[in-house]
Amino acid sequence: MVGARGFGVDVGGSGIKGALVDLTTGELVEERIKIDTPHPATPEAVAATVTEIVARAGWDGPVGITLPSVVTAGIARTAANIDPSWIGTDARALFAAALGGRGVVVLNDADAAGLAEDRFGAGKDVDGVVVLLTFGTGIGSAILHHGVLLPNTELGHLEVDGKEAEHRAASSIKEDKGLSYKEWAAEVTRVLRRFEDLLWPDLFIAGGGISRKHDKWIPRLENRTPVVPAALLNTAGIVGAALATGNASPNERETGIAP
Ligand code: BGC
Repeated sequence: MVGARGFGVDVGGSGIKGALVDLTTGELVEERIKIDTPHPATPEAVAATVTEIVARAGWDGPVGITLPSVVTAGIARTAANIDPSWIGTDARALFAAALGGRGVVVLNDADAAGLAEDRFGAGKDVDGVVVLLTFGTGIGSAILHHGVLLPNTELGHLEVDGKEAEHRAASSIKEDKGLSYKEWAAEVTRVLRRFEDLLWPDLFIAGGGISRKHDKWIPRLENRTPVVPAALLNTAGIVGAALATGNASPNERETGIAP
């Protein structure tokens, strides 16, 4: 028997990736399709790329799409690391029109990753408050409580000792400043201390590309909250976006991210 399926597209700074997902297992049904993010990554250019990915996959059902933005009622509200013309764009209407009028859900990239990790990955058996953080160009965040997402938290922009958290501890900062894992882990500790003092989570899940090298830095963190690496790695955004389309739990509907 074929389980429920959904199509997810993850819009990132360097690549736009999409795949058909089995919503009961969180596994990709087919290999993901990746196209370089157009530059500039304007809404129209990104919509054209998303449409190409969905057409290549031959999928005609609903599509979930992530953006590295706050997204309320389908409208992108911020654009910290993407083209500023996204701000105020009705992303849901734009993608729906580009995709022939089908059902479209648009949500924050870290929220999508958080939904996927909580359902199928590192947060699967965890009771309580789970905070997923993605370390990349910026820091994305998702807060879940018993599987319920509080959408659009932007912990990466919280000021920590006079600087935005993501300007201290995004993985791009490690690269730009040539920090060692030890130096960078000290910044991550500082940022997570602030987050844990405010939120008292039961678990932090560390995502983003640098979570693949978790053995080099997670053991160096000095936080009271356990920190574990993300389990789904580069598929979390796709899986979470796909989840948001079809298999939305009643709680996801309440958050307004489901169709
Ligand atoms: C954005 C978030 C996004 C994160 C990861 C931050 O700069 O403000 O919305 O989730 O980067 O892409």
